[in-house]
Amino acid sequence: MNRLETSAQQRRENPEPREQDSPVPWAMLVLSGALVLFGIVYILLSDANTPGSWGDGRVAAELVGERHPANAKADGAALYGALCAACHQASGQGLPGVFPPLAGSEWVLGKPDTVAAIVLHGATGPLTVRGTVYNGVMPAFKDQLGDAELAALLSHLRGQWGNQAEPVAAETVAAVRAQWQERAGPFQAGKDLPSHE
Ligand code: HEC
Repeated sequence: MNRLETSAQQRRENPEPREQDSPVPWAMLVLSGALVLFGIVYILLSDANTPGSWGDGRVAAELVGERHPANAKADGAALYGALCAACHQASGQGLPGVFPPLAGSEWVLGKPDTVAAIVLHGATGPLTVRGTVYNGVMPAFKDQLGDAELAALLSHLRGQWGNQAEPVAAETVAAVRAQWQERAGPFQAGKDLPSHE
């Protein structure tokens, strides 16, 4: 058998496959081009300020929310949930022995100036609340809360969980803030913390 002859086994094999020339169909190219063009034109022609009635009824300004200075209606309940509930609990009952209750607390229900001073500058040292002595550290919130916000928060505390005391005005908070302007560090109950009466 000479070299050029092929055996029966070789003839039985299929030829080696080869990659063929298969360009993207022109219809596909035209379609993708048209889609990109449609996207560009759609974005250029669309109006970002479509009226709220087209969607769920809210306009962009409403989605920014209460914190926007333009509609700064402070929400005492929301502030409580965000800043205070971790320690004093959503129920306002605190944690026995660790965090004092705000529900029924003589400090919350007492003179607005004192409770405002406590929240502005914090408090530490033995503090008696509803007959129990607590000795922890209450953080200061003077840099986080504006006058209107703290007033809304205090008014919330004074009307929650069965508490019944007059709401607190932003002017009251502003006066207390000015009174203790120079102060650094928390109030010490039994030392410099003003009375709640
Ligand atoms: C890190 C935990 C913590 C956070 C957060 C906290 N407090 Fe307090 N708070 C305390 C502790 C502890 C005391 C008691 C301080 C002491 O022993 O002198 C206290 C005391 C108080 C008191 C006086 C005692 C009483 O029970 O009436 C008031 C009022 C008060 N907190 C309000 C607030 C408000 C309002 C906020 C949110 C802006 C807040 N606290 C956030 C821990 C906290």
